[in-house]
Amino acid sequence: MADKKAQLIIEGKDPIELPIYEGTLGPDVIDVTSLTAQGYFTYDPGFVSTAATESKITFIDGGKGQLLHRGYPIEDLAEKSDYLETCYLLLYGELPTSEEKEEFVAMIMRHTMVHEQIHQFFHGFRRDSHPMAVMVGVVGALAAFYHDSLDITNQRHREITAHRLISKMPTLAAMVYKYSIGQPFVYPRNDLNYAENFLYMMFSTPCEEYTPNPVLAKAMDRVFLLHADHEQNASTSTVRLAGSSGANPFACISSGIAALWGPAHGGANEAVLNMLEEIGDESRIEEFIERAKDKNDPFRLMGFGHRVYKNYDPRAKVMKEHCDQVLAELGLGNDPLLKIAMKLEKIALEDEYFIEKKLYPNVDFYSGIILKAIGIPVEMFTVIFALGRTPGWIAHWKEMIGGSYRIGRPRQLYTGHTARTYPDK
Ligand code: CMC
Repeated sequence: MADKKAQLIIEGKDPIELPIYEGTLGPDVIDVTSLTAQGYFTYDPGFVSTAATESKITFIDGGKGQLLHRGYPIEDLAEKSDYLETCYLLLYGELPTSEEKEEFVAMIMRHTMVHEQIHQFFHGFRRDSHPMAVMVGVVGALAAFYHDSLDITNQRHREITAHRLISKMPTLAAMVYKYSIGQPFVYPRNDLNYAENFLYMMFSTPCEEYTPNPVLAKAMDRVFLLHADHEQNASTSTVRLAGSSGANPFACISSGIAALWGPAHGGANEAVLNMLEEIGDESRIEEFIERAKDKNDPFRLMGFGHRVYKNYDPRAKVMKEHCDQVLAELGLGNDPLLKIAMKLEKIALEDEYFIEKKLYPNVDFYSGIILKAIGIPVEMFTVIFALGRTPGWIAHWKEMIGGSYRIGRPRQLYTGHTARTYPDK
């Protein structure tokens, strides 16, 4: 596997040979696993230069602004595929044939209902809880309701759990919303497509007919699709790390949801809208741009910058197109927040600070605007991200559990006290 070798020269020691592996795309990787035996650890806070695993699922070239799922560019998937087909692709490695797709979609849409007891479980939460707090709890609790399929060594069990999670996430997400506004839970309708059914469970009530708007349903589907996977990001790495201990998949996905909640990750879409509201008027944009550039001010422009993309986030481009379609459909072209967003984007893209640091709008910059236009409250934005990201988390978990893996156990550079004597008192 390793054609090339690196030499690590440490003063006064024999050189240490380290194998170099070549992937199909991306930088070569130096295998440092033998260093522990030589008395060294590598130091890489934030895992900036660490490949924690080998994977065949997703590839990102941050410099080019390229995102591939199983080799297919995200732009092509967003144009020609749909969310459930992309789920299939992530889980099984290939696009489905039309029969396979029909069977997969039918199976996902047949398992949308959740155990009736989960309704009671919801009632333990305060109605004003943050929806992500409820999601972390409810998804983790699924292990208590579906323990017939928790044997992670059984491939069929892994399959059933994967399907259950994809089927039931929209139902749970809509239940979180309904609970927060005191409306009755809406049972899923399996004759609708995945995105239509989600809108139906979110916005219908038993008192009135509700027909999902096809333009909004398509935009919703694309929001899910554009979030479906993103390589070894913080939440996916969390799912892998939790999974490496042999924890059940519901617990692992719940830990991924917890990691996603932070404003530097999935919480950014919520933070974008809050920031636009705080800016409030186009005349104040410059002031906020200056604050973002000020080293002594912790404020950052939410929805800008990315650990990996040092170019336009390719997901943001597609999201922007859908954003325009949704706003046109709803007659919201003159929305004041959107105007602030567009002006902010223009000013930031022309500003020396943002150009020099390669800070471009990311997916969250536009997803928040679309979701708000559809009528989804800001606190639910990260829940939508979690729903969309579920197949990615599961695909990575399945890839790890289905292959060879060890428990994840990072080491440290210890800088605390050396051993000392407990004082006599
Ligand atoms: N506004 C102002 N300055 C920024 C921003 C920003 N949004 N993002 C990065 N910088 C500056 C940062 O201060 C640093 O400057 P310096 O080199 O002078 O110290 C430089 O750019 C590099 O930033 P970093 O924090 O070292 O970069 P990172 O890779 O650790 O952080 C990030 C990436 C996404 C956390 C960060 O860009 C950020 O906080 N952005 C705002 C939050 C956001 O939109 N997050 C969503 C990410 S996309 C969704 C997802 O995949 O989860």
